[in-house]
Amino acid sequence: MDKFVIRGGNPLRGTVRISGAKNSALPCMAAALLTDHEIALDNIPHVRDIETEKRLLTSMGAEVRIGTGEASNCTTICCRNLSDPVAQYEIVKTMRASSLVLGPLVARMGLARVAIPGGCAIGGRPIDLHIKGLEKMGATIEQAHGYIEARASKLKGTHLVFDKITVTGTEDLLMAAVLAEGESVMENCAREPEVVDLAALLVAMGAQIEGAGTSTIRVQGVKSLHGAHHRIIPDRIEAGTFLIAGAITCGDLIIAECNPDHIRAVIGKAEEAGARIDVLSAHSVRVQSDGPLRAADISTEEYPGFPTDMQAQYMALATQAEGVSGIKENIFENRFMHVQELVRMGANIRVDGRTATVRGPSRLSAAAVMCSDLRASASLVLAALVADGESILDRVYHMDRGYERIEEKLRNVGAEIERLGNVFAPRPAEARAK
Ligand code: EPZ
Repeated sequence: MDKFVIRGGNPLRGTVRISGAKNSALPCMAAALLTDHEIALDNIPHVRDIETEKRLLTSMGAEVRIGTGEASNCTTICCRNLSDPVAQYEIVKTMRASSLVLGPLVARMGLARVAIPGGCAIGGRPIDLHIKGLEKMGATIEQAHGYIEARASKLKGTHLVFDKITVTGTEDLLMAAVLAEGESVMENCAREPEVVDLAALLVAMGAQIEGAGTSTIRVQGVKSLHGAHHRIIPDRIEAGTFLIAGAITCGDLIIAECNPDHIRAVIGKAEEAGARIDVLSAHSVRVQSDGPLRAADISTEEYPGFPTDMQAQYMALATQAEGVSGIKENIFENRFMHVQELVRMGANIRVDGRTATVRGPSRLSAAAVMCSDLRASASLVLAALVADGESILDRVYHMDRGYERIEEKLRNVGAEIERLGNVFAPRPAEARAK
């Protein structure tokens, strides 16, 4: 298992370039199932979840070529010859976002067999709202042997109100609605930038969508969709993670190729906690130390509130802030797996249900710690960057799911970080071409 060795104490200085958003790339790649024409995507991040998505689509008969990232070399997906509308458990169990193929498969092929994604470290992660929406569109759903089987000769537009705001639920049903017969009105939708990015791709493919990014999305179903070439938005969670990295190490970091508008809540909290943040342009933000860090409470909310995917990273910052910070996790039922590892490094954190109380500042001492999920891993990296001594982080494959070349990016701005074990790097383009 891969490990990181991180020696703390260096302020991060310089410029870091943000990669494309994993959580936009995943639905956009699934959108290729909706057409028999080729979809071309720029700015796809080279992370483990994208490799998993490629395996998933390829297993159904799609042709997927992950681009190298150079301008002329984008990622292409062609689902002309779909042979097998099945998302195997072996793949789904490693990435629950595989459920994003459910809506497009039913819309395109009238049939989908998708393994029910198990829970994960942060919660039960049900997809009941995805299923309820498809049933409302006329699909018949059967569940047996750990799989969902959805069938529909032709989905019908409908008026649905999500019981809870769900990001992939909104994306899944948006992809179902674009080929449904008639109009769909979906209310209480997720407003995340990744939903807006998916809608932009679908419109480029010929879909008729209004209201993406608001709570109410209207779709006029069309008979078919054509190909499109689309650039994935920057990863706002990676940008937020590096913003916290600059603040926690009292550095001076420019975060380039990001979208400051997508991280307003994180910028606001970092400023409240005492960091100095300057929005330099529509694509870059600068974070500098501006004196000691101060405690500030957060409560995770759906976008545009403070993102749950930044809660663990903020907690690391709070351990270095003067005072008591209250951290309320409203989205997932078990997203404090990083707490015990931070406590082992010397943090003073108490958890009561969905609220963690952090007393700081604490001098963190380097330790051997264990990564449990994607964002908990990021939290432990941030803590190790300020801990005195050399920390060993185990199971960093969790981090490789959503952060591209993270150790290289950190080293380039002054961190002392090494990877022990096999570097996760996508196979060279020529190998992929075979
Ligand atoms: C997306 O997950 C993201 N993943 C998550 O990012 C992110 O944490 C989450 O949205 C919240 O922002 C991708 O986009 C691939 P939800 P998703 O459906 O869609 C409940 C990361 O770190 N719910 O918005 O699975 C659910 O249990 C990952 O990159 C139902 O009850 O999250 C949760 O409590 C982690 N029934 C709440 O809604 C459903 O059918 C929000 O979940 C669906 C969701």
